[in-house]
Amino acid sequence: MLSEQTKDIIKSTVPVLEVHGTAITTTFYRNMFEAHPELLNIFNHANQAKGRQQTALANTVYAAAANIDRLEAILPAVVQIAHKHVSLGIKPEHYPIVGEYLLKAIKEVLGDAATDDIINAWAEAYGVIADVFISVEKDMYEKNEAKENGWSFFKDFVVARKEKESDIITSFYLKPADGSSVPTYEPGQYISVRMSIPGEQYLVNRQYSLSQAANNEEFRISVKREADNDPNGRGSVHLHENVNVGDIIEVSAPAGEFVLEPTPGPVAFISGGVGITPMMSMLETVAGVTPERPTAFLHAARNQTLHAFDDEIKEMIGSMENAVYKAVYSDQPEGYLTRSILEEFVDPAGDVYVCGPVPFMEAMIRELRAMGIEESKIHFEFFGPAVAIN
Ligand SMILES: Cc1cc2nc3c(=O)[nH]c(=O)nc-3n(C[C@H](O)[C@H](O)[C@H](O)COP(=O)(O)OP(=O)(O)OC[C@H]3O[C@@H](n4cnc5c(N)ncnc54)[C@H](O)[C@@H]3O)c2cc1C
Ligand code: HEM
Repeated sequence: MLSEQTKDIIKSTVPVLEVHGTAITTTFYRNMFEAHPELLNIFNHANQAKGRQQTALANTVYAAAANIDRLEAILPAVVQIAHKHVSLGIKPEHYPIVGEYLLKAIKEVLGDAATDDIINAWAEAYGVIADVFISVEKDMYEKNEAKENGWSFFKDFVVARKEKESDIITSFYLKPADGSSVPTYEPGQYISVRMSIPGEQYLVNRQYSLSQAANNEEFRISVKREADNDPNGRGSVHLHENVNVGDIIEVSAPAGEFVLEPTPGPVAFISGGVGITPMMSMLETVAGVTPERPTAFLHAARNQTLHAFDDEIKEMIGSMENAVYKAVYSDQPEGYLTRSILEEFVDPAGDVYVCGPVPFMEAMIRELRAMGIEESKIHFEFFGPAVAIN
């Protein structure tokens, strides 16, 4: 338990630290990676280069500190992050390292303003926040292990098939290398893939949504090839170019809470580009389990040759009782998902799932909110560290 005095210090320093939020977390990561380069085997270097991870960490630490009296208020955010942590194999022994460098960064950025009282209060508060994460993550690891065919951390999988879905998206069908089956998962969840890439000093970890409904046999991921001019596309270009049928890659257990709500009401899936992947797993599940559910599948692509899964979607939609499908291409006239298209296809009483590039998601979520759809009915996933949607 934190003393009242400690809580007061934390709450009074949050606004000051917020001003220096990303400066502190940028300093933190630089110093931590210098002292612990082995952690570069876990972190996504592109997210660091773009500053997205620094901002995500800063926002969470300060949100937690501001709510230090009632940490349950930030539990939804903790759960979302814990899914990502568990998918990357973060362990309790990592937390003191992060704590040490976070405090050193606060001291380095604030200088003399960071008195011993302030640093000690933050050390205590970090301990409390870290314990919440460690306990949520312990529970998730235990659940993963207890599942039939489940496991914790990484497991070897073999590429059973590799199929082109569009000019830039290719699917990989993955089976456990030891011949076992795969656990069930919720439609919308993702896995992490860990790769040792020739010429790269550190392991490369990337998340990929499972793009088909759960089955016993295999996972399917569908990967968009990023541009291959350095520094872009380390993981996806390696998968497209060098990972072939018969090759082994390391895979973590399914994670994530962007999942299909098992309610009977109307549902709409809205995706942009490769954001279509979690929608495929959700649509296949609805088509297989509740084909009568009123369903709208809306997709935006840059052009028809970049549009993956068109035939697969048409087949599923065709087999359902009350389902509609519309794809738009931005190289065509009327090529965007506009407010009027959303109003025509999306039932405002239903659940809506959105995934795609950040500007696309911002536009869609803004429109859905303006249509009066309840916040709790709008579900979305970022293909990178979460950002605030205004
Ligand atoms: C939950 C989740 C689910 C996902 N599902 C899928 C999926 O189903 N399919 C899919 O294809 N992807 C998915 N992703 C994205 C995927 O994890 C990778 O981010 C993506 O494949 C790009 O990785 P990469 O290594 O090829 O590119 P990276 O090397 O990571 O580069 C990505 C982008 O970062 C920028 N960048 C890289 N390095 C720098 C630098 N030094 N400075 C500035 N900018 C830089 C570039 O703009 C580049 O285009 C998902 C991500 C998450 C978090
Ligand atoms: C209380 C302490 C911590 C907080 C508040 C925190 C917060 C966060 C946040 C907000 C994210 C982004 C989640 C998203 O994808 O939206 C994240 C991701 C991540 N965290 Fe933590 N974290 C903490 C501890 C740790 C520790 C101890 C480690 C291990 C060294 C760690 C490693 C990672 C990694 C590897 C990612 C993914 C980064 C990426 O993909 O770029 N975190 N964390």
